[in-house]
Amino acid sequence: MSAINSTIQQAIDLLNAGEVVAIPTETVYGLAANGLDEVAVKKIFKIKNRPLKNPLILHFSNDKDLFPFVDLKDNSQLKKDFQILYSAFCPGPLTFLLPKSKLVPSIITADSERVAVRFPLHPIAQQILKGINFPLAAPSANPSGYISPSCAAHVQNQLGDKVKLIVDGGRCEGGIESTIIGWEDDTPIIYRKGLITAEDIEKVLGVKPLYKIQKGNKLDAPGMMTSHYAPSTKTSLSENIEADINKFQSKKIGVIKILKDNQNLSVSKVLYLSEKGDLKEIAKNLYALMHEMDEANLDVILIEKAPEIGVGIAINDRLSRAVV
Ligand code: TXA
Ligand code: MG
Repeated sequence: MSAINSTIQQAIDLLNAGEVVAIPTETVYGLAANGLDEVAVKKIFKIKNRPLKNPLILHFSNDKDLFPFVDLKDNSQLKKDFQILYSAFCPGPLTFLLPKSKLVPSIITADSERVAVRFPLHPIAQQILKGINFPLAAPSANPSGYISPSCAAHVQNQLGDKVKLIVDGGRCEGGIESTIIGWEDDTPIIYRKGLITAEDIEKVLGVKPLYKIQKGNKLDAPGMMTSHYAPSTKTSLSENIEADINKFQSKKIGVIKILKDNQNLSVSKVLYLSEKGDLKEIAKNLYALMHEMDEANLDVILIEKAPEIGVGIAINDRLSRAVV
């Protein structure tokens, strides 16, 4: 058996034994456990120091495995929309909020009537899901409120002493968390922006989803908290890097720029999100660069805003939450 296959088998054995394992997905690394085992799920909350009122996503290999866990009425608009989106984007970075069946433990949904479900694309996540007979509860594998991990080393640095196994699946291709979609009175609503954009969804559904994104500290829906994805170093979003550098003159400044250019900035450290401005490349690199800057002992991190189009909309959403 290859090293990676024996690690996957080890992950399956630990999950069957009610343990928590960090696994790669195409978005970010997840902290996974048997989603039907309340004791195992509680370990996730403890490791992340996550409040129990913040519900978890259940991960499935495919829709056939999902159906016992949701309650989609035949011929309902919701069922039709789900089927269209599932064929267009799954497995992939899209999470659905759907009416739950009795099989979903209340600890997963924080007592809400809807359960969040997703079908990860990463081949290792798929192999693990195919090797077990329960869904995996998996939030991002970071301490609650901190930046999500987009490679195994990020998980190791943040939670290495708390998890028995981190399955290394390389760098996550997506780099930011899945888009979350749900329905209110048959209207599709995006609750978390992500790699699947509102335009992508509109193209297949024929209607434009509304946004219901949490901005303040008030919680409309559980889990849509503002203070998220935040580095420990003071972080500021910038539309004019040079002007902002002047504001922090006596400080050790780190700058994350969108495009690699030859501009000479008089700061301690500069990192670039992309060579040519490709938005998917920016998303893939975003958290890795934020992690790197956060470890560089700086007083302040200035991050340049992405263009507010396509995936740039989700990137700017994450950036706005990194600034606390
Ligand atoms: O890309 C992703 O979705 C990653 C990978 C690991 O799959 N997972 C992830 O999980 O980002 P987490 O727990 O870090 O973020 C899930 C978000 C949280 O804001 C949570 O509150 C919300 O989804 N959520 C989960 N279940 C919910 C529910 N039943 N109702 C409302 N919001 C829910
Ligand atoms: Mg998270």
